[in-house]
Amino acid sequence: MTTMRSAPLAGVVILDFGAQYSQLIARRTREAGVYSELLPYDTPWSEIAKRAPGAIILSGGPESTLQPDSPGLDAAILAAGIPVLAICYGMQLLARDLGGKLVPLAHGEFGPAILEIDRQASELFRGVPAHSRVWMSHGDSVTEPPAGFSALAHTARCAIAAIGDSQRKMYGVQFHPEVVHTEIGAAVIDNFLHRIAGLPADWEMGSFVDRSIADVRAQVGDADVICALSGGVDSAVAATLVSRAVGKQLTCIFVDTGLMRKNEADGVLAAFRDVLHLNVVAVDAQERFLAQLAGIEDPEEKRIRIGHEFIAVFEEEAKRLSNVRFLVQGTLYPDVIESKTADSKAGHKIKSHHNVGGLPATMKLELIEPLRLLFKDEVRAAGRVLGLPPGVVDRQPFPGPGLAVRVLGAVDRERLAAVRAADFIATSEIEAAELHPKPWQYFAVLTPLRSVGVMGDGRTYANLVAVRAITSEDGMTADWARLPHELLERISTRIVNEVPGVNRVAYDVTSKPPATVEWE
Ligand code: XMP
Repeated sequence: MTTMRSAPLAGVVILDFGAQYSQLIARRTREAGVYSELLPYDTPWSEIAKRAPGAIILSGGPESTLQPDSPGLDAAILAAGIPVLAICYGMQLLARDLGGKLVPLAHGEFGPAILEIDRQASELFRGVPAHSRVWMSHGDSVTEPPAGFSALAHTARCAIAAIGDSQRKMYGVQFHPEVVHTEIGAAVIDNFLHRIAGLPADWEMGSFVDRSIADVRAQVGDADVICALSGGVDSAVAATLVSRAVGKQLTCIFVDTGLMRKNEADGVLAAFRDVLHLNVVAVDAQERFLAQLAGIEDPEEKRIRIGHEFIAVFEEEAKRLSNVRFLVQGTLYPDVIESKTADSKAGHKIKSHHNVGGLPATMKLELIEPLRLLFKDEVRAAGRVLGLPPGVVDRQPFPGPGLAVRVLGAVDRERLAAVRAADFIATSEIEAAELHPKPWQYFAVLTPLRSVGVMGDGRTYANLVAVRAITSEDGMTADWARLPHELLERISTRIVNEVPGVNRVAYDVTSKPPATVEWE
């Protein structure tokens, strides 16, 4: 793969020691206007130096620096003279490596705590109240800062909750400034980036989009490019950006799997063709997908079959085009880093995700991944800069395998019609209710479970529909949305009255974890 890029963006390098919150650190620095990259904790200084970062942040992590094999840091990093902010495990490592002292706590400190600042004059705490709520999560504690460092703050259970050396511009905080529960988190990150490291707030979407368009143009020259459109935000933004760069050299392929929601396929096509003026080939592959799914009940098997069929259809269409050398993929930054971070080896596979992004590896095309540096919310911002309509940019996430994973058990035309009708009722009622905040994702699921009911004077023995609505920031964790009872009542009454074969509605009150968002 050849990827030509403009000069590397200076900014912050975050070294990831495997904390749950590492990606949040990257997002927070970008929200503060500073570009950031997340690299594995064992990245050597020589590799980091190529990026010419203006500052380094060490993340937290699940290990203890007091254990013999705990993850360490290339010593050259702390000797490089670059400002450092070390968080949680990072602070303990900084303290240990520079000669401070640590002890294991008899009882760790987890959850909220009140931070009391002892050195209000420190640049790190400029403009921050003397007492505030912070989020703690640690089993060890620094008892003596390294030479040159002062203790800056404490909590009731942690005598040294922040340390700093203003000469060397190195700071450590035991609390997590990246989580929303830490009231002063954004201020601490801002102070570190702008006051201490002197980095300007110049990461903004307009210039990123301009630069990416220029890069794609340089990469592609006069070759042709293809892109699979799913209707989702990522592929829409990626395709629009590439079309701004190379115009009609881009052909988009939209595969209608028959697994989309009501009116969705037409709406997506109209948006791409008429509003965004993309060159789109639409393929009606509904029968093929139904044939692949006939009688298949196992969720994983469904996902795999859909993924394979998608590749087959896409490849057939691509072969009809000549001179194609490039494939656009809507890969996002979390996909790029997830494969590299410290704890990824331990991850278990829960579901085979199907995305139009990760598909035709067999096609020997060069990749264009214009979104590979962005988080999801940044993709939406880029979409707005590119002039995508709100209906596309703010669309709720929809899984690649579509309604097939919302029909539990075997998928057929009739069941798809039932889930589509129930879903349309649930989503349109939730949208009409204009909730604040709006749930992040909401939908209906058709279960194969049947129960007894009574309609008119007759007995029914029909299916159960489940309605799910969640709040979430990124789909990684989620809580069930507390929908008003009157809204649930309207949804339930309408589904039972309007959807044939359904006589009961249940509302899913499970968070993720332990459940997942989708039922399959
Ligand atoms: P789960 O069910 O894994 O879902 O908790 C988390 C988020 O991912 C969406 N999802 C998918 N997105 N391809 C996608 O692009 C998929 O195969 C897929 N499966 C689930 C899901 O809707 C939720 O937002």
